[in-house]
Amino acid sequence: CGIVGVVGRGPAAASIVDALRRLEYRGYDSAGIATLENGRLTRRRAVGKIENLEATLARRPLGGAIGIGHTRWATHGRPTERNAHPHVVGGVAVVHNGIIENHHELRVELKERGARFRTDTDTEVIAHLVAQELHNGLAPVEAVRATLPRLKGAYALAFLFEGHDNLIVGARKGSPLAVGYGKSEMYLGSDALALASLTDVISYLEDGDVTVIKSDGVEFLDREGHNLSRAQGAIATDAKAVEKAEHKHYMRKEIFEQPEALGRTLAQHLGQPGLTVALPAGTAGVFRDVDRLSITACGTAYLAGLVGRYWFERYAGLPVDIDIASEFRYRDVPFRAGNPAIFVSQSGETADTLASLEFARARGQRILSIVNVPTSTMARASEIVLPTVAGPEIGVASTKAFTCQLATLACLAIAAGRERGTLSAEAEAALVRGLANTPRAMTTALELEPAVRKIAHRVAAFRSALFIGRGTSYPLALEGALKLKEVSYIHAEGYAAGELKHGPIALIDKDFPVVVIAPGDASFEKTMSNMQEVIAREGRPILITDQKGASLAPQGRWETLVLPTMPAICAPLVFALPLQLLAYHAALALGTDVDQPRNLAKSVTVE
Ligand code: G6P
Repeated sequence: CGIVGVVGRGPAAASIVDALRRLEYRGYDSAGIATLENGRLTRRRAVGKIENLEATLARRPLGGAIGIGHTRWATHGRPTERNAHPHVVGGVAVVHNGIIENHHELRVELKERGARFRTDTDTEVIAHLVAQELHNGLAPVEAVRATLPRLKGAYALAFLFEGHDNLIVGARKGSPLAVGYGKSEMYLGSDALALASLTDVISYLEDGDVTVIKSDGVEFLDREGHNLSRAQGAIATDAKAVEKAEHKHYMRKEIFEQPEALGRTLAQHLGQPGLTVALPAGTAGVFRDVDRLSITACGTAYLAGLVGRYWFERYAGLPVDIDIASEFRYRDVPFRAGNPAIFVSQSGETADTLASLEFARARGQRILSIVNVPTSTMARASEIVLPTVAGPEIGVASTKAFTCQLATLACLAIAAGRERGTLSAEAEAALVRGLANTPRAMTTALELEPAVRKIAHRVAAFRSALFIGRGTSYPLALEGALKLKEVSYIHAEGYAAGELKHGPIALIDKDFPVVVIAPGDASFEKTMSNMQEVIAREGRPILITDQKGASLAPQGRWETLVLPTMPAICAPLVFALPLQLLAYHAALALGTDVDQPRNLAKSVTVE
């Protein structure tokens, strides 16, 4: 899941461990390092956290001024030491992010030619292929170049070669990779954050690029082996500001950053007098003569998109086709050329979302992306980029990126309404005023933390929980459930409140907390009827509402959280906060690894 390479002056192993630590947030289940000293290749690997690798290194240190390291998130093969990267075959060491889809075929072919496999990974075939090319007489860079066309799927790769103390070869297709420049020392990393402890200056590889890294210089080659130049840029200073400050976890820090992050995002999308939405120039006309719009994303970003659908339909009269990226890319979607397609992603690197983007682009859609990493592959592949400026999000479970995605979608929907003539200037101004109030309402919502903590402790005593809501509170119910299961491992489901009676009500008994998300809006009464159904079956409703709703709500609820009354457009953004805090405190109560929950990865660059 994370790659680091160092060639230069140093003890390489120490720099690599430092950089791997910065990648920990991405989620991983094993880690490893290989270095070269006097031409000899050695490696150390360990299951679990980087600490375990460090302990191994303390017992059996690795020398050398050149090395590669990796944190692995298991895809093919269990998270064991044997399956951890780097993989070494015949003097070639490799680390890999991504998936080699034709690994089985290649494995069969290599075995027929006498290769002996020692791991269950797809990556090992790469080491065998390159080792064979070396054996056939090719030099290291040529051996890598000869191997790449045989690989189907996605990869970011870094190689070391026995006997070559001043050479790292990197290659990229579908998974990000960047080169970092130092003084008599050069670096390779899977993202800017990995390199931030080592250098300020980096270049991104493009798909198809191979890079040849030596301590005194870097070359980029295209598929044919011709030299390329790749622009150098500075690492954004915010990539460096990833400390936890006074917070115990990144997740809590990021939850509490939301009023500020949202203010930044709104400042980006709202016009100066503050009563209009002002999007990037290229956006003009995108929504005017179109008959529908598609929104595609994964995970929490998908749930932001689901809220966006309500807004585009309500404010812009625009039908929205929304899907999860891993489905969208394989559906036979009938596209009309020129329609807008929006992709939402914190990282801008999620493999399924990226593939969906290419799928839509190839079918003549106009590509807009809402991303938090402006240098990401998705941003670079889009016609129009709407940055969320939430700042780096380190906690694996998305929080501030989600609310900033919501704010951006709200601004886009308002702009679409203006362009399509479905929103008057007054209506737009009222919505913008509402949005501008959100950071303040969020600050008030965060003051509920002690009350949420108490409820979370009670919820943590149960094995399951249900979240229900109507309208824009329905996607929020899905997000509340997703957050809870991600970080606390309590089984949780989100349901449209009206759908409760069509199945999940069968689960309700006295051991079942049901989080009811119900701002005092037009659907409030109906959601209250659904809450009554829970009360009648001795379930334990936790009502999250606003002051207006609290005054109208029926008796008999188990717990209540009351937010200030706010304009409808703010509600999903502000109601998200108690849901995030609920998940966070339930996780704390249960003692899980909040920032890096088991089995999850921050950015999933495999299918
Ligand atoms: C992973 C993360 C989620 C995130 C999803 C989509 O599963 O754990 O928090 O919502 O990927 O990621 P993206 O970077 O595309 O928003």
